[in-house]
Amino acid sequence: MVEKETSFLEPHPNLSPERRNQILAAVGLGARRIFDQMPLLPVHDITHVERVVKNTRAICQGEGIDSFIPEVAAWLHDIGRLQEIQAQADGKKIYHAEESAKQVPAILEPFKPELGEETIIAVQDAVARHSLPNAENDSQLVKILKDADKLDGLGSIGFFRVFAFYPERPIYNPQNPFEDGSTSEEYLRYSGQSSQVQAFLRNMEWFSDPRFWIVTPTAARLAVPRVKLMVDFLYQLADELGVPQGEVSKIPIVQASQKRLASLSS
Ligand SMILES: [Fe+2]
Ligand SMILES: [Fe+2]
Repeated sequence: MVEKETSFLEPHPNLSPERRNQILAAVGLGARRIFDQMPLLPVHDITHVERVVKNTRAICQGEGIDSFIPEVAAWLHDIGRLQEIQAQADGKKIYHAEESAKQVPAILEPFKPELGEETIIAVQDAVARHSLPNAENDSQLVKILKDADKLDGLGSIGFFRVFAFYPERPIYNPQNPFEDGSTSEEYLRYSGQSSQVQAFLRNMEWFSDPRFWIVTPTAARLAVPRVKLMVDFLYQLADELGVPQGEVSKIPIVQASQKRLASLSS
């Protein structure tokens, strides 16, 4: 279980439910306006953000945590994508999570008296870390945001997102469609000219390795039907390609995913 109770996750005593909804609506609108200025990125558009907000709410509900502050963080977690894209176009590299975090204080400034400095810093920290693997010092807020984001890379929506993210890649390596991409190091060898099947397996790794991703019990439970679908998809793909199903069964990511699925359904 993730540890409970950190002050910024508690409902603010002076905020009425109506005011909280107003703040969430205003933050959501702020995020929408930022995404409206970006070119369409099917993988990271406002619908991704909306799904991450929804996942955040579901995780908080399952964990028995007030979702107000986590939802604020979810709305803002990817707002720095535009700067990342612009930097890429100029041949520079910036990290969208850090860029998003930089923009958090300005967006939350109107609500600073109500939210407090500590909460704004906590949201900033969660946004800055949202795409890094789970770390020992991650707060509950950070864990929830990471899990909510990664859930959106699993299941049906994960299929579309992974394939849309790498349109330039071959679908699979004809020499070895299910070549192993089980560890980050191994995966790195495939990055660049890796296949879409490898990218798909890499998304599955967000579930298969409970040390780094999908660490909250509720997110793990929500991931189960998504990952079952992904495993079935790989077996079906093997059938269609005329590859023995054993080739799928021996992929370490698949084995680890099946092991975690079994532990969650027992
Ligand atoms: Fe992100
Ligand atoms: Fe995201």
